[in-house]
Amino acid sequence: MEHMDIVAAFTDQAWLNRMTEQLHRKMTYAVGKAGETAWIPYTTDGHQWKKNDIGWWTNGFWPANMWQMYRMTGDGLYREEALRAEEMLDEALRNFKNLSHDVGFMWLIQSGVRYALEKNQDSYDRTLFAAEMLAARYNPNGFIRAWNEEGREGWAIVDCMMNLPLLYWASEETGDPRYRQIAMRHADTTIQHFVRPDGSCNHIVIFDPETGEFLENPGGQGYESGSSWSRGQSWALYGFVLSWLCTGEQRYLDTAKRVAHYFISQIADDWMPRCDFRQPEEPLLRDNVAGNVAACGLLELARAVPALEGRFYFDAAVRILKAQEQDAANWETDDPAIFTKCTSAWHDLNGRHITMTYGDYFFIEAINKLRGDRLLFWRPNHEG
Ligand code: GLY
Repeated sequence: MEHMDIVAAFTDQAWLNRMTEQLHRKMTYAVGKAGETAWIPYTTDGHQWKKNDIGWWTNGFWPANMWQMYRMTGDGLYREEALRAEEMLDEALRNFKNLSHDVGFMWLIQSGVRYALEKNQDSYDRTLFAAEMLAARYNPNGFIRAWNEEGREGWAIVDCMMNLPLLYWASEETGDPRYRQIAMRHADTTIQHFVRPDGSCNHIVIFDPETGEFLENPGGQGYESGSSWSRGQSWALYGFVLSWLCTGEQRYLDTAKRVAHYFISQIADDWMPRCDFRQPEEPLLRDNVAGNVAACGLLELARAVPALEGRFYFDAAVRILKAQEQDAANWETDDPAIFTKCTSAWHDLNGRHITMTYGDYFFIEAINKLRGDRLLFWRPNHEG
């Protein structure tokens, strides 16, 4: 079976060169602004990174941005900043009781990447410790517990699909299948209880933590129960592609395609996701994170399927990246973040059309994919 060469297929070299130059200029500025603070960037207040708790789930994205930029440019500034953030995150590891299921986001894509590149033993230990914590959250009824609050023992969320690669990594590194088995059980539960027949997804599912019985599916960060939070759809899309890459199980690839078809059907008018695909017409709330995550997932999907089929996913990814960049990227050095229409949750009135380091992260990852970098940060022990 012939697979698509996405680098050869992307012919707009001028756009790619412009993105590369703009990213380098903007991220050099962003690192300088981070150096003026004592925290890890997450969002901005217009001119500066805002203060952020060390245990916040997005904190791995900043050093991951740095590693992506280091791969793109070879500039040692980015590596130094990645190391600064990685070491700061040890405080979060020490206070591990505050951490959620998001330890994959926090350690795989930066400590796991550093270990793959430099064989640093501390980075390996951090990544494996994170995997141990994620595995320990497994409820034998078939799901990984998302959050720590009392009363949320049976809560699982679709976002967790993106943390499963940490477990696949741990099985490959240690030779112990338990981590992979937990990941696959959770992925199978996600197919059964989160992904709907039309390819849309629930954000949250609450199970009885004693019996595993399905109880309810609140709207979570989307508009309402039964609606369709676009970022959740993008986590499922990319997450199932990654589970397919890590296991070779056809059902994960089929699920990724089902979610992708739904996602593309919802954005084909202007290629920019709304925050929730079933939100009211007004306000027209966007989420750039969902678009950039989905684009990364679609580029991997384009490679996974036969070449003639891949073109559909590839074209959609490129349209999303270009549309969002044109509409919402800020390349000026007046604010250290790039994407301006990221939305934390539909009902969070202060979190609408803000900046977020992970919205920027997935754009940079996509640009590196189009430039031909084959190091997949979600599977850093497999280059190529
Ligand atoms: N994982 C939480 C979010 O995507 O906002």
